[in-house]
Amino acid sequence: MSEITPDEAFLTVYADLAREGPGMPADVAWALYVAGTPATARILDAGCGSGADTVTLAKERPQAQIEAVDQIGQLVEAARKRTALFAARVQVREGDMAQVAGPYDLIWCAGALYFLGVTEGLRRWRDALAPGGCVAFSEACLLANPSANARAFWSQYPQVTNAAGIRARVAEAGYRCLGERMVIGAAWEAYYTSLSDRIARLRPAAHGSLRDALDEAEQEIARWKAAPSEIAYLLMVVAPE
Ligand SMILES: C[S@@+](CC[C@H](N)C(=O)[O-])C[C@H]1O[C@@H](n2cnc3c(N)ncnc32)[C@H](O)[C@@H]1O
Repeated sequence: MSEITPDEAFLTVYADLAREGPGMPADVAWALYVAGTPATARILDAGCGSGADTVTLAKERPQAQIEAVDQIGQLVEAARKRTALFAARVQVREGDMAQVAGPYDLIWCAGALYFLGVTEGLRRWRDALAPGGCVAFSEACLLANPSANARAFWSQYPQVTNAAGIRARVAEAGYRCLGERMVIGAAWEAYYTSLSDRIARLRPAAHGSLRDALDEAEQEIARWKAAPSEIAYLLMVVAPE
């Protein structure tokens, strides 16, 4: 059997999961409310993955025009299938979320802004926001006095900081915070439960790159299980000053 590449192995593990990171429909609804996103809004789901939140945005704002973008074609395909019911007003495309035109009333970005950097990404999106427009994003967040287990969990992301650090990055970009809440506990459990199911299905036939990718995913889950009450995203709704 021919060997698959590490990139292919990564996608075999993660593509088309229920979602590609922790989050709940209630987080999307909360952000729309805090941002005051109007019924007929133009919304961008930046780094949409397989489109879980794109569906929620479409349901929560049934008259909105929604664009979803991701850089990975396989995830774009999954998101397109998932949003087919809303195809008249939801467009999913492969592309770079750093290069978007807008204007958007809301840019929603779950677990993906760190790819651009909070400050850099918010700066880039400023010109893509309509007057009164907001950005809602979730970002890795250290809680007070993080344990060694919590630090081990985030060891692949050395830029991780606490809520004050994220707020400072937002301010540096020239934005103010309209609201914030923690994504912790149930959202992570749901994400890792679906990832564990995927691992269990793939494990029996896995070798080479796929076995390595499964090992890495299992290690991440084990690290979360060692400190579940400390592993969090901070979800923030922000607007340009
Ligand atoms: C952790 S996943 C989150 C996916 C989705 N928002 C969710 O919560 O299920 C991060 C996503 O950001 C996408 N991404 C990273 N950098 C990107 C870029 N510059 N342009 C578009 N998508 C990007 C990745 O391909 C990946 O699907």
